[in-house]
Amino acid sequence: MRLTKTEISEIRNHLHGLNLTKEAQLMKHFIQHGKISTYEHVLSVTRLSFYLNRRFHLGASDCELVRGAFLHDFYLYDWHNSASHERLHGFHHPAVALKNAMQRYKLSPVEQNIIRSHMWPLTLLSIPKCRAAVIVCLADKICSTYETLVRKSSFPC
Ligand SMILES: [Fe+2]
Ligand SMILES: [Fe+2]
Repeated sequence: MRLTKTEISEIRNHLHGLNLTKEAQLMKHFIQHGKISTYEHVLSVTRLSFYLNRRFHLGASDCELVRGAFLHDFYLYDWHNSASHERLHGFHHPAVALKNAMQRYKLSPVEQNIIRSHMWPLTLLSIPKCRAAVIVCLADKICSTYETLVRKSSFPC
C-alpha cells in the first residue's frame, strides 16, 4: 500500500502548515504505541485515511479528512504517565483532543466529529456521523493494532 508523490503532496497542502505549529510538534515528545510517537501515529492515520478514501472512492472531503485525522489524538500528554491525565485515557482523550484543537484552530463540524468519535465504540455515545469520521475511526484501529503488535514501526503507507 503506497501513496503516490502527488497524493503525499496533496496531504501536505491540506495540512497547510498545521503539522508545523509548535503545538503539533509537541506530539513528537509523547509515545503512542511501542516506539511510535503520537506525531508519527497521527501522520500514519492521516495517510491511511486519505488512502482509503481515495482508493475506495468513499467520497469524504479530503481536506476535512486530513485535518481531522491529524488532530484526532491532539491530547498533548504522555498517557503512560498516570499523573499527567484523568484515569481511563481511552475514554477521555478524544474530548481532551477536541478541546485542545478547538482552542487553537477553527474546526468544521466534520473535523470535530472525527476527533470526538475516533475511539468509537469504546466511547459509546460519541458515534461517527459522517464518512470521514468512519474512515478515521477505522484507520486509527488499523494503525494502532499494527504499532502495538510490531512495536517498532509506523503503519507502512
Ligand atoms: Fe486516540
Ligand atoms: Fe489514534
